[in-house]
Amino acid sequence: MTQRTQTIVPRVLHAPGLVLRPLEETDEPAVAEALRDAEILRWATGSAVARAPEAERARTWLRPRIAGWANGTAFFAVTDGADGTLLGSVGVREVNRLPDQAVVTYWVAARARGRGVAARALDAASRWAFAAREDGGLALHRLSLDHALVNPASCRVATRAGFRLEGTMRDFYVDTAGRRYDSHLHARLATDLGEEAGTRRPAASGA
Ligand SMILES: CC(C)(COP(=O)(O)OP(=O)(O)OC[C@H]1O[C@@H](n2cnc3c(N)ncnc32)[C@H](O)[C@@H]1OP(=O)(O)O)[C@@H](O)C(=O)NCCC(=O)NCCS
Repeated sequence: MTQRTQTIVPRVLHAPGLVLRPLEETDEPAVAEALRDAEILRWATGSAVARAPEAERARTWLRPRIAGWANGTAFFAVTDGADGTLLGSVGVREVNRLPDQAVVTYWVAARARGRGVAARALDAASRWAFAAREDGGLALHRLSLDHALVNPASCRVATRAGFRLEGTMRDFYVDTAGRRYDSHLHARLATDLGEEAGTRRPAASGA
């Protein structure tokens, strides 16, 4: 299989009411606060972070994500477009591990939920990942994500951001306590964008 892991040029992206920018070391206090949320630790950080002592979690999560742009991983801080507050994160990882594909992931701080932040950020990151290289994008064709069936908010986020449901993966996700969960596989293709034009897009307000 062709291995096309690459350095990704860090970008700033815009979505309605949001600015997505590369994560920085100065995000550590806001990330530390967000990672106190059990749902983020359960579904969105990986077990190494979830098992780390609380005082080290943010650094453990941040470091590889700041450095990741050099090896095919693009993690953004999702910030409030008005005041720059960190609201969450969206990541595009495993870029070109399979040709022209990547996997996306996201979380929103508990205090910032309920206003469609994740769907808007995911839509913006996806459009960038699909955009042509000459337009500053990654020229990818397929983005996928998975979420446990018992996480319906993530299912709504995926669907609202144009990631169609492709099926159920039995016992796919194993949480930090070793419990297994059936998960949905969702994906969005670059070629879906044309079909989506004119259909309902992620909510443009709310930030
Ligand atoms: C999933 C998550 C990112 C969504 O945050 P958000 O962008 O603030 O999402 P919102 O609260 O605006 O809700 C998004 C949608 O889910 C729905 N929703 C929220 N909580 C829900 C619940 N408990 N059950 C069913 N639907 C729910 C909302 O009604 C909304 O639906 P709509 O798009 O039809 O209006 C956030 O809950 C989170 O960070 N969870 C922990 C980490 C995580 O699960 N990440 C994803 C890993 S796959």
